[in-house]
Amino acid sequence: MIRIQPSGAACGASLYGVDLSQPLDADTVAQIRVAWLAYSVVAFPDQAMSIEDLERFTLAIGPRGEDPFIAPIPGHAHVVEIKREPDEQAPLFAEGWHSDWSFLPTPPAGTALYGSIIPPVGGDTLFANQYAAWDALPTAMKSHLQNAMGIHSARRGYAPNGTYGEKDRARGRSMAIRYSDTAMKTRLHPIARVHPETGRTALFVSPGYTIGIEGMPDDEATDVLNELYAHQAREAFVYRHVWQAGMLLLWDNRCLVHRATGGYEGHRRLLHRITISERAPVASAQLTH
Ligand code: SIN
Repeated sequence: MIRIQPSGAACGASLYGVDLSQPLDADTVAQIRVAWLAYSVVAFPDQAMSIEDLERFTLAIGPRGEDPFIAPIPGHAHVVEIKREPDEQAPLFAEGWHSDWSFLPTPPAGTALYGSIIPPVGGDTLFANQYAAWDALPTAMKSHLQNAMGIHSARRGYAPNGTYGEKDRARGRSMAIRYSDTAMKTRLHPIARVHPETGRTALFVSPGYTIGIEGMPDDEATDVLNELYAHQAREAFVYRHVWQAGMLLLWDNRCLVHRATGGYEGHRRLLHRITISERAPVASAQLTH
């Protein structure tokens, strides 16, 4: 039986009593999915996982996601390294709030991140609960946004003139980022997004990937989005995740935004990441404990 220890913050829990280096039975996977849907981000401390274990575990949670703009590690087409060297000068990767790859037609449902080398200080990951953010919006704002579509794009990060574009290459970033003109594409997603498994509404915008609101003049959309960005990251919605080596983290991109933090200059940080796609609907989404 898995033991769940909630973080006490707006989201997040640690899960004990499961060995992710071994294949999991259906009941264990169901318990993990229940906890994941309930707490939105779940940590599994003290796991000694190989890349193959990470691949097997994530496939049990859902199908493989699509990962543009970061080259996978050799021999593992869906595994990328989130990496920073001790002397690296490039801006921190993923320091702005975002939901992973929300500019895709079907953004990943989840992300799994395994801490391979964790610095002794800093490098926490922050998560903000976007169910709570939506629920706490003023009624007038909710009515305004109820049927609005956010315009998502990877351009700020991954276009040739983006944060990780041509100039970044010269700064010697250690991560295998592959910027591209395809980052200019846009994709619409509801701002009030109904989670397909929990049925709850979450605020689905982020300064990382949302560049406008469909049908709204740019200056008005910028004002609305800036208000939403300030709101969605309020302290009350945030869980600060502190890493340990050998810890696996599994989060739900449909109801969270997250961001990396620094503070570990002079230390190496290396994590392995796999994104998880939506799975076909399952009868009784097992939302109760
Ligand atoms: C990510 O956004 O996938 C990376 C988060 C982190 O490095 O803490």
